[in-house]
Amino acid sequence: MESQKAGVQHYNDTVVRQFSIMAVVWGVVGMLVGVIIAAQLTWPELNFGIPWLSYGRLRPLHTNAVIFAFGGCGLMATSYYVVQRTCQTRLFGGPLAAYTFWGWQLVIVAAAISLPLGFTTGKEYAELEWPIDIMIATVWVSYAIVFFGTVGTRKVKHIYVANWFYGAFILAVALLHIVNSAEIPAGWMKSYSAYAGVQDAMVQWWYGHNAVGFFLTTGFLGMMYYFVPKQAGRPVYSYRLSIVHFWALIFTYMWAGPHHLHYTALPDWTQSLGMVFSLILLAPSWGGMINGMMTLSGAWHKLRDDPVLRFLIVSLSFYGMSTFEGPMMSIKTVNALSHYTDWTVGHVHSGALGWVGLITMGSLYYLVPRLFGRGSKMHSTKAIELHFWMSTIGIVLYIAAMWIAGVMQGLMWRAVNADGTLTYTFVESVKATYPFYAIRLLGGLLYLGGMLVMAWNVWITAISGRSTNVAIPAVSNAHA
Ligand code: HEM
Ligand code: HEM
Repeated sequence: MESQKAGVQHYNDTVVRQFSIMAVVWGVVGMLVGVIIAAQLTWPELNFGIPWLSYGRLRPLHTNAVIFAFGGCGLMATSYYVVQRTCQTRLFGGPLAAYTFWGWQLVIVAAAISLPLGFTTGKEYAELEWPIDIMIATVWVSYAIVFFGTVGTRKVKHIYVANWFYGAFILAVALLHIVNSAEIPAGWMKSYSAYAGVQDAMVQWWYGHNAVGFFLTTGFLGMMYYFVPKQAGRPVYSYRLSIVHFWALIFTYMWAGPHHLHYTALPDWTQSLGMVFSLILLAPSWGGMINGMMTLSGAWHKLRDDPVLRFLIVSLSFYGMSTFEGPMMSIKTVNALSHYTDWTVGHVHSGALGWVGLITMGSLYYLVPRLFGRGSKMHSTKAIELHFWMSTIGIVLYIAAMWIAGVMQGLMWRAVNADGTLTYTFVESVKATYPFYAIRLLGGLLYLGGMLVMAWNVWITAISGRSTNVAIPAVSNAHA
């Protein structure tokens, strides 16, 4: 540890370092579970007849680990770093920041134990039982106090746009979690939802879609608005566009949830409303993507030899792809083909692996050397390059396989003979999907392999550096 001069204030980077390291650790774990379930879909015998290794229990373990453990730690690490630099002040709330770290790790461990044991509410992305839900709420409220407290005690007048996105993500997730988790306990690890029937479905998919919109999108846009300009060494392309992007995005997302419930008992007008808002959502999403990409205008050559920048920019192209595809899938006639098929899984992973994964990795490659006193360079740039290609090829294999499989399944299920009978049995469609599951597994293995290369690189960088405490500079309006 660097000695601290009396009277000099330092940023609280201990918690940023902790969250950064754990993002990598949980990334490896969550993706490993993803690879295991991908293998189980290829070879169902890999369930081994052991209940806690069964697909139905490991699948929610995968989604919770990658979204909330890997994504969550990445978001908390970067938001704590960014809010301190852009507000030029130390994190608010003293030990509360440490509580958010240890509390969040406890939540993750509780999830990793309870899900394989079979405890679940059955609500997708909100499977954890009520005692863990309460723990999540306490951590999240503390996170909000630390973040908004820091913004409130800032030394600069302006609130940089990344903080708007992080702030909206924190507020919206608090609202979503608390409303959707309203449940009546019926024992220590059993509860019933406070809602019933179609209302329950509506609340669940209002939650589910906005978990995508605010957890998997808005928070990561906060990352984009800080780390893309930083790594490119250029200001954001259009500050005005970033403000329009912000308000349009957060307003529109909230209404799009019913596209998850097309052709269900939900009133038809609600489904159509969800579809219309999903189509509108294309505009702010692409506005944001263009703002990020155009930040590189005049500096495109940097992509040639900066693999970190390549992670950040390629993530934006996947963001653009998945936010084009999503509105298309929300059109009811398209959804009639895509729903229940692997097309949805392909869409999910073009967003998850391409956007969420790559932007997090790029941001961590920016952060880690700086947090461990290694200047701006990771231990091995060649390893970052290798990671970039392994993950990009992995994503392409994964999503191309799922797209083909999905469209094929949809077409097989709706094919009818002249006499009105079905052309294919369900099991024939499962058999036809088999080769695509094998290709997805290969893609997943490559993506996981890349993550292991990253873990090695981060480890060496961390142990060969020093945990430096950076002094807060004298107030200026630069986004330091
Ligand atoms: C404009 C933006 C987007 C729109 C309008 C949109 C729309 C859709 C639609 C229509 C579905 C299929 C629903 C169904 O048939 O069940 C879907 C599923 C999904 N999308 Fe998107 N999407 C968008 C962006 C994204 C992004 C960027 C991500 C990830 C980072 C993402 C993650 C997901 C997930 C996880 C599901 C699966 C939910 C489930 O059934 O479990 N989406 N999306
Ligand atoms: C090595 C990388 C990964 C592999 C091999 C993998 C594999 C899988 C598999 C096999 C499923 C189940 C699909 C099904 O039920 O048919 C799944 C679901 C899912 N994964 Fe991944 N995954 C990986 C990484 C990620 C990451 C990084 C994220 C998010 C940041 C993610 C988010 C999800 C989500 C949201 C679902 C549920 C999709 C739905 O309900 O439609 N995955 N994954």
